[in-house]
Amino acid sequence: MNTYKNIVVLTGAGISAESGVDTFRDADGLWSRYDVNDVATPEGFQRNPTLVHEFYNLRRQAHKTIKPNAAHFALAKLEQNFQGAFVLITQNVDALHKQAGSKNLIHMHGELHKGFCIFCHAKVECFENMSTETSCTSCKRTAGMRPDVVWFGEMPYHMDKIFDKLSECDLFISIGTSGTVYPAAAFVADAKHAGAHTLELNLEPSHGISLFAEAIHGKATEVVPAYIEKLLSAQQ
Ligand code: OAD
Repeated sequence: MNTYKNIVVLTGAGISAESGVDTFRDADGLWSRYDVNDVATPEGFQRNPTLVHEFYNLRRQAHKTIKPNAAHFALAKLEQNFQGAFVLITQNVDALHKQAGSKNLIHMHGELHKGFCIFCHAKVECFENMSTETSCTSCKRTAGMRPDVVWFGEMPYHMDKIFDKLSECDLFISIGTSGTVYPAAAFVADAKHAGAHTLELNLEPSHGISLFAEAIHGKATEVVPAYIEKLLSAQQ
């Protein structure tokens, strides 16, 4: 194992699967039960905001009983104990990385527990249900609150910062993502371009597998803690 100075980790739905969070594209995933155009696009929200609120309300309610797993905790441990630079970019909107103790965390697709007002753009915390009747705590108007989740056709958050981090990293680890949604699916190519070692940790080979220098396939709760233990021992 090499020693590294600058690590970027990207996570996707697979890291939260063993906590009981649905993935998107697995056989029983969310996109087998919902039409992505209905619940994850600005046009879908315009057509039927009630359906979209219901979709995210269900996920917010389900979140009340789930807990971070060994893979989330291992990443928090890596951040705490690694001597060099570390950043965790997640495509997930759940709060499990935060709950596990990760601090240097970028939610590129937004957060389930936040909403924003389409009229005044105020952002608010949201732990309960949201509806077309919810009024904005800032401008007081109703019918303008939406989940603070990046939908298809919208620009993910913090892209400048993310590209800066990718251009500086010497180890890029992708965990639990199918590698189908851009721009995240291209981060491995950006990291490779920067000269980083690239590693995939996923249940099965992702769509982007050919871009990675190394891959370890298995359950996140097994492969992530095992790899991180080795990584931390090599740095001492
Ligand atoms: P996907 O559902 O596309 O992929 C999940 C990946 O996790 C798959 O490759 C699975 O094989 C893997 N997986 C499942 N269980 C696992 C486990 N226990 N351990 C390790 N890996 C496991 O989810 P994402 O790649 O995160 O965006 O999807 C990316 C984006 O597409 C999401 O952020 C969301 C979605 O549409 C938006 O909603 C904008």
